[in-house]
Amino acid sequence: MCEAAETRHLLDWYDHHARDLPWRVSPVARAAGVRPDPYRVWLSEIMLQQTTVAAVRAYFDRFTARWPSVTDLAHAEDADVMGEWAGLGYYARARNLLKCARVVASDLGGAFPETRDALQALPGIGPYTSAAIAAIAFDQAETVVDGNVERVMARLHDVHTPLPAAKPELTARAAHLTPKARPGDYAQAVMDLGATVCTPRSPACGICPLMSACAARAAGTAGELPRKSPKKAKPTRHGIAYVAQRPDGALLLETRPARGLLGGMLGWPGSDWCDDPTPRPPLDASWQELPEEARHTFTHFHLRLRVMVAHVDTTSTPETGDFHAPHGFHPSKLPTVMRKVFDLARGSLREMV
Ligand code: ADE
Repeated sequence: MCEAAETRHLLDWYDHHARDLPWRVSPVARAAGVRPDPYRVWLSEIMLQQTTVAAVRAYFDRFTARWPSVTDLAHAEDADVMGEWAGLGYYARARNLLKCARVVASDLGGAFPETRDALQALPGIGPYTSAAIAAIAFDQAETVVDGNVERVMARLHDVHTPLPAAKPELTARAAHLTPKARPGDYAQAVMDLGATVCTPRSPACGICPLMSACAARAAGTAGELPRKSPKKAKPTRHGIAYVAQRPDGALLLETRPARGLLGGMLGWPGSDWCDDPTPRPPLDASWQELPEEARHTFTHFHLRLRVMVAHVDTTSTPETGDFHAPHGFHPSKLPTVMRKVFDLARGSLREMV
């Protein structure tokens, strides 16, 4: 297949404007023969699922400083990995990350497979991520389609079908432009273009390398594309969180069951999250309700948590969870919703030393 002019323009643009990202090998270094580290590519792609580059950077740096190779990560304690992931959301990703690291380290001698099919057989690696790793780490001619790519393709070809129905067409358009040479740089170039030039609002069409080929620019529709089918309204669920503190400052926390939302993460004991939760205090105490609820939005619902606080004595034995001494408690290890509960409760707690 001869390379499309759009692909050439995009790669030329990438050679000058590629973002400097901690997991990326720059196009200059790549041309000089430097190969990306598949571990870093895999880790970044898992972190970037449903999460912005800005949010991922610091997590990526901490993870790779603490666990420089997939074998190091495979030997990590579950709780340490979940704690480092806290705040990044979608916690099933972290559980699968560990599972995948352990399979790669123990069954594959620490080497990631190079093909899309073999990558997709690993825990936590779906069609998008397998294509991204195969293209970026191993220069396989796979097509990577994320939200940025969909936007660029919808505009380039002036596609008015709303998403998600437009996905097959946009994927075929992206595949058509994927080159045999430099497919990894091409994938990253489209992502960078979508993130910095062909942005959702106010696209910078005047500096776009695809300006002359862009059908939406010609039609004046770029700002309206891609169209999206209306999303269903999210329901609101309710719950109760219990924050118990002993005189020595220790706080009662539990590790949530491995399966389900926030699985394997640290949290405050509490009720189910539903329309009308039944109170479920972890121990008998004089519970005081805080005036404000903790609010958080998950993918499929909004959550409102009433927050109960109690000062309990040292002999209290809870039905669930363990007391964590102040020196072993780091709010940064809590998932965001549990961190919000802590921030509300803080004023009612004894000074944390
Ligand atoms: N989003 C997802 N993967 C990415 C990558 N490799 N570079 C930039 N943005 C991304």
